[in-house]
Amino acid sequence: MSESTVGILGAGGWGVAVSNLLSDKGHFVKLWEFEARAAETLKSTRALPAKLPGITLNQQVLVTNDLHEAVGDADFVLFVVPSQTTRSVASSLKNEPAGKRPILVNLAKGIEVGTLKRMSEVLGETIPADLYSGIATLSGPSHAEEVSRNIPTAVVAASKDEGVARAVQQLFLTPRFRVYTSADLLGVELAGSLKNIIALAAGMLDGIGMGDNTRGALLTRGLAEIARIGRKLGADPLTFSGLSGIGDLVTTCLSRHSRNRFVGEQIGKGRTLDDILTHMTMVAEGVETTKSGYDLSGTHGVEMPITAQVHKVLFEGKSPVEAINDLMIRDPKPESWG
Ligand SMILES: NC(=O)c1ccc[n+]([C@@H]2O[C@H](COP(=O)([O-])OP(=O)(O)OC[C@H]3O[C@@H](n4cnc5c(N)ncnc54)[C@H](O)[C@@H]3O)[C@@H](O)[C@H]2O)c1
Repeated sequence: MSESTVGILGAGGWGVAVSNLLSDKGHFVKLWEFEARAAETLKSTRALPAKLPGITLNQQVLVTNDLHEAVGDADFVLFVVPSQTTRSVASSLKNEPAGKRPILVNLAKGIEVGTLKRMSEVLGETIPADLYSGIATLSGPSHAEEVSRNIPTAVVAASKDEGVARAVQQLFLTPRFRVYTSADLLGVELAGSLKNIIALAAGMLDGIGMGDNTRGALLTRGLAEIARIGRKLGADPLTFSGLSGIGDLVTTCLSRHSRNRFVGEQIGKGRTLDDILTHMTMVAEGVETTKSGYDLSGTHGVEMPITAQVHKVLFEGKSPVEAINDLMIRDPKPESWG
């Protein structure tokens, strides 16, 4: 594939890791950071020590605080900001001149609180259709800490338009970063977002010292409830056994890099959510997505018992031990995903 110009919106851990991956491939990368001081610091230090220790941002990546400079002549625009801020960032683009009509790629994992929209829906309804040529989401088990060290990783590029999914696949593909395509944009986005709720629960189990049996049960029944809401909303159930489903779920629930698992673990150890979030520099998407997941479950009448219990622990003061006890004494039933 020939070199492309890529505007990356969001210079956190993932934005920087992806900037290096794409500029190593020869693409011209412009990385936008919305906070002026943070942009200046990144421009001069070429590092994010708190988020990606030991990693240097490639010299050829242009760091900017000017949104127009980042997207002006881009072939691809990547959204790598926390999902609850994607709408406001996308809104700032709506007055941009049409330019090259880039492909928009969402890399965030979350569901908008209140509207319950997925990120591709937020982009599609915020940015006028004549300003872009397609929308995709890139998702899967891909911790920035590992991608930035070239550790073999596989993800999925999902779009309703096969040509768009293939273009995103070609943009990212390297011998160390394998990209599959998928037509199930809905399933990929739901899976990548809702697994963070299960990661919070997995962390809680670790925090209170539960065993491997409990973790195995949690991951399996967590995937079952994600697949259940996914199927109700029209996703392909097999997507949930893919990279964005079980792949990301296992990685996030077991990894020391996962901040959602970390938040859960700290809660399991007795800290309050407010205290944990106040001391975190990186976004833990699962906290807000728990609200969205809980509302999706209620709106569509789909049982999501683990999500309901995580919601009670995070926002209603229930103890994680009590939450597990309540999950264990639910009515006995067949092992159905329906
Ligand atoms: N870090 C990873 O390993 C990883 C991997 C895959 C996907 N993701 C997803 O990518 C997204 C970003 O994650 P991250 O780890 O880079 O987060 P981060 O917390 O490290 O950085 C977030 C970035 O968004 C910016 N930002 C915050 N509020 C903003 C606002 N209101 N407007 C514009 N920009 C704002 C921050 O300044 C920062 O540049 C999340 O949805 C995350 O789930 C992260």
